[in-house]
Amino acid sequence: MLNPDAKIIAAFQQRPETHLSLDELASLVAVPRATLTRRLDILAGLGYVFEIHPHHGYRLAEEPDRLTADAIQAVHHGGTIGSRILVFDSTGSTSDVIARHAARARDGLVVFAETQTRGRGRQGRSWASPRGKGLWFSILLRPPGGVAQAQRLTVLASVAVARVLRKESGVDARIKWPNDIVCGARKLGGILTEYRDAVAILGIGIDMNLAAEDFPADLREVATSLLIETGEIQDRNRLAGRLLAELDRCYRLIENEFESIIRDWASLSVTLGKQVEVRQGDRTWRGLAQALDSAGRLVLRCDSGRVEHLVVGEVTACS
Ligand code: BTN
Repeated sequence: MLNPDAKIIAAFQQRPETHLSLDELASLVAVPRATLTRRLDILAGLGYVFEIHPHHGYRLAEEPDRLTADAIQAVHHGGTIGSRILVFDSTGSTSDVIARHAARARDGLVVFAETQTRGRGRQGRSWASPRGKGLWFSILLRPPGGVAQAQRLTVLASVAVARVLRKESGVDARIKWPNDIVCGARKLGGILTEYRDAVAILGIGIDMNLAAEDFPADLREVATSLLIETGEIQDRNRLAGRLLAELDRCYRLIENEFESIIRDWASLSVTLGKQVEVRQGDRTWRGLAQALDSAGRLVLRCDSGRVEHLVVGEVTACS
């Protein structure tokens, strides 16, 4: 059920060029006029700019570049993922917030933060999360098949993220096994699935409005953002809503239709069909990245003739 602010934002977003009278708006969002004027004042205080025409009413002229649950829910509501959305100004890691809520919270809780002070990536790396520049969020899920489906979560999340970035921002987002979203040779986002106490925590980071200098110096040559790729500032609430909608759609396929996710993953992958070297700690395999298996593991036909099914690793293409 959408709250009044989310309904008001959605009503304006669905009619971007139109002025709405207070009576029209009141009937669209089903709240009394007195409540409506109070809510419009509150939204204005939050940074929403309304153009007011003496005869035609209100038009939403500008939205604040601040993540809010209402603005995200105006784009996506219903479903499992996003059934509850919390937005923090600053957290250590959004995945730790999910872990703290896990015992009491339902599946689909999503936690966003404007900035993370201890954002983490794979293999104990830190994840730079500059304030207001990206989407840093984590989702609580209890997949029907338990921990055995944790790898499927990474796979389906990669497909959902790559698809939405392609559609909404027009970038050539692709998937680099095991969990990178890339654009050309540079990383645009990452996915970290953790499994603790029978819950999966799906953490997603997307570099949206970072300029080159917003990245730590050691990442400037290897990372990119939607801003760098498109030259345009992107609407974070809108993209967040679209991502949750697509993640929710893909999550429904995890049990019985995962084959279709694997097909989409294969068509978006920059890894499959290549001769690669995969490193896991002090172990290294070389061979052909042949397929994803039904658990979401990489099937590597090694030069030795053995076939390995790998969950994690650092992959580099061999020339
Ligand atoms: C990687 O590519 O190494 C995975 C990066 C995952 C980053 C996200 S940001 C939201 C969530 N919270 C974290 O601390 N990490 C994930």
